[in-house]
Amino acid sequence: MINQIIQDMNNIKLSIDKAFGFISKESVAAYQPAADAANKALHQGTGKGSDFLGWLNLPSSIDEAHLSDLEATAAILRKQCEVVVVIGIGGSYLGAKATIDALSNSFDWLQTDRKNPVILYAGQNIGEDYLYELQHLLTTKKFGIISISKSGTTTEPALAFRLLKTQLEEQQGKEAARELIVAVTDKARGALRTLAVQEGYKTYVIEDTIGGRYSVLSPVGLLPIAVAGFDIRQLVRGALSMELACGEDVGFTNNPAAQYAAVRNELYKQGKKTEILVNFHPKLHYIAEWWKQLYGESEGKDNKGIFPAAVDFTTDLHSMGQWIQEGERTIFETVISIQESNYTVRVPEDKANLDGLNFLAGKRVDEVNKMAELGTLIAHIDGGVPNLQIELPTLNEYYLGQLFYFFEKACGISGYLLGVNPFDQPGVEAYKKNMFALLEKPGFEKETEELKKRL
Ligand code: PA5
Repeated sequence: MINQIIQDMNNIKLSIDKAFGFISKESVAAYQPAADAANKALHQGTGKGSDFLGWLNLPSSIDEAHLSDLEATAAILRKQCEVVVVIGIGGSYLGAKATIDALSNSFDWLQTDRKNPVILYAGQNIGEDYLYELQHLLTTKKFGIISISKSGTTTEPALAFRLLKTQLEEQQGKEAARELIVAVTDKARGALRTLAVQEGYKTYVIEDTIGGRYSVLSPVGLLPIAVAGFDIRQLVRGALSMELACGEDVGFTNNPAAQYAAVRNELYKQGKKTEILVNFHPKLHYIAEWWKQLYGESEGKDNKGIFPAAVDFTTDLHSMGQWIQEGERTIFETVISIQESNYTVRVPEDKANLDGLNFLAGKRVDEVNKMAELGTLIAHIDGGVPNLQIELPTLNEYYLGQLFYFFEKACGISGYLLGVNPFDQPGVEAYKKNMFALLEKPGFEKETEELKKRL
């Protein structure tokens, strides 16, 4: 059975064979009943957090009318705006940023012949300098806002929205500003919903059953991605192919999400407490940020859970490479590999060869990168780091859709194997309570008094 474990996942490929020097095939195969049961529990809504399973059938439930509506709204913003600011934090911005960064030209914002508005982000921090500099930049720009918050009450995006809404109204007038703001939020609750109804903004609903970190295929991700000029139909199509490939009746031997969940749980059991998501393409940096939120918030609870970390190689081989090669042996790596780059750059021949690089002349830069990847893989395995690999044929909307759904499904199964609720995040409230108390928010008087005593 495990011989089939290198699966063809409708193009994306998961390889787990490089973990087998560290854990046995039998130990992974032993997860079959539990992983199949976890997959079934997700689909039948019998596991923990079953109120939050709306993401499970999201790709197959998105209809033509919804996609057309999103594209029409995106077209309006694209036509009207030089810059669109996506306001949101955590799951309310990471999926969009991950996709847009992965698919955009690395120097996109410097292009002079732009076909798409520049997408900027706010509400993902409370940096005063960041907000000052953003507002300063926007004084000379025709901009729009997509304000995203499921609860509609999160402080960071609410603060950014207040600042930018005020600025937009001052620059454009209240009437015109209204046409340049879209709100994505709960269907009934929260301050953003109240505001949107009162002001008459175009709105999209985040369903109650879809948590922030599982929302990339909802309007939370799809609208900004469409505004940036990318093909949301291909993204959804890719996700749909993975929904089928990891479906309720797809057993462990053929189910890549179940296998990934099993291997990482077995590695964790054997003391590998940190999983490092590795890429060799700088555009994937925010894919890892999205992944970190997905797995960190889903599994880090009840005093357990793999710590999700990430590195960008080869850049970080010159910083974190030493630790990974020879530090404490409590880590494993999951490498996102891209088979084919989108462009070709060859190393030129140089007569003088003073840099000694003529041995590379004629080779593609990607070939050099691939040998760095292979060399790193061998070195890290030799150094005691188990290695999993997820291979994408190339970087496009379709394969990113597959990747998102694959990680989401695996996360649900993995959380159940670990015995936690992968769909809540009670721990993120602790800092908010203290912050509100310290800022003397009405309703937090008792906490304010208690904290003042401690300080
Ligand atoms: O995954 C989550 O639930 C969180 O990261 C939220 O997405 C984040 O806190 C933002 O919440 P909201 O969309 O309610 O503003």
